Amino acid sequence: LKGAFDDYMLKEIHEQPEALGRLLEPLRGPGAPGRAPLGRGARNGSRTLPNGRGTSEAQVAGLRWLPELPTNVDEVWFVACGTAYHAARLAASYTDELADLPSRAELASEFRYGQPRVGPRSLVVVISQSGETADTLGALREAQRLGAPTVAVVNVEGSTIGREADQVLPLRAGDEIAVASTKAFTAQVVAGLLLALRLGQARGVLRPERSGGILEGLRLLPEQVAAMLAVQEARMQELATRWRDRRDLFFIGRGRDLAVAMEGQLKLKEISYLHAEALAGGELKHGTLSLITEGVPVVGLATQPDLAVKMAGNLQETRSRGAEVLVVVGPEAEGVTELAFMSVVLPQGVDPLLRPVLAVVPLQLLAYAVAKGRGLDVDKPRNLAKSVTVE
Ligand code: F6R
Repeated sequence: LKGAFDDYMLKEIHEQPEALGRLLEPLRGPGAPGRAPLGRGARNGSRTLPNGRGTSEAQVAGLRWLPELPTNVDEVWFVACGTAYHAARLAASYTDELADLPSRAELASEFRYGQPRVGPRSLVVVISQSGETADTLGALREAQRLGAPTVAVVNVEGSTIGREADQVLPLRAGDEIAVASTKAFTAQVVAGLLLALRLGQARGVLRPERSGGILEGLRLLPEQVAAMLAVQEARMQELATRWRDRRDLFFIGRGRDLAVAMEGQLKLKEISYLHAEALAGGELKHGTLSLITEGVPVVGLATQPDLAVKMAGNLQETRSRGAEVLVVVGPEAEGVTELAFMSVVLPQGVDPLLRPVLAVVPLQLLAYAVAKGRGLDVDKPRNLAKSVTVE
């Protein structure tokens, strides 16, 4: 079943273009390729789009396959555990911006016992690959008890969470076997963006040019992920050889990049058993900078144009203390790469909202390569289970 791959995790990392292609099939048409031929690099923006581009009618039609969402709500909560919580943070940022609704992400275990102040005018979206996670299910039931309308984003469609929520958005990412979640994560992020678009449209707060641009970006995304995989796999292996016996690694980002940093550190620590920590750029000075010394590995994310200058300042602070910095940056922040000994520059023309999906790919590859280089069982890390059905 692993085919040509050594491990399920590597197979699932490489299945991302295909998985996203399936989730986005209603936008891209059934024949659209999920995977660029290996080594051919990025195709950029010039391909003819299946629905043509432009008219707001086509855009509205383009989202009709998504669950109908209640518009009479005042806020949106995204609730999940682990990797799915990182996707929830991104989903909340999308809904806040595109649907113009106060939105937040919460850990399911905190939500269910934290007396959340939700009610009939709070939309609660739970995100879960397995659809069986005990805390996420508990949170869903608590939200329903409080009268909130609920939506589940799940990969396993017949799962308990999928059955119990009022509405379901299936991820269609295919079976995920490796304990460390990869293709489900990128699908969850895209699903969050689709829900935000749907809600924004239903509420009439989304300009057609804005939604049109994002939908066009989504259509191109699977090929861009394929190109990222093709280019970065060998580079991340090289970096892993250098970093695999270090003790602590730090992942730093701001805004959406913080969610990606959190996901990168979780992936690395759960399969490599190295200590990794994610933090907001602005928090560096408030404690963690004392741990940044000569040769400490730092992964800096600066993909969001409005925050790139601030992140450059933070990374400079780590550099001047001798950190070894890998940066993942947008094309307009190329200056930041001068600080780094290795950099991943995202392609031109990708909407900042879509960049987390591309930015996480090298971090998945890095985590995989570090664990593999340490001779570990990548698919079944110690002490962890794929589906956490007890609290
Ligand atoms: C990490 C990982 C876990 C899960 C978490 C939630 O790679 O896989 O953190 O994301 O246990 O699981 P689901 O999404 O099945 O609710």
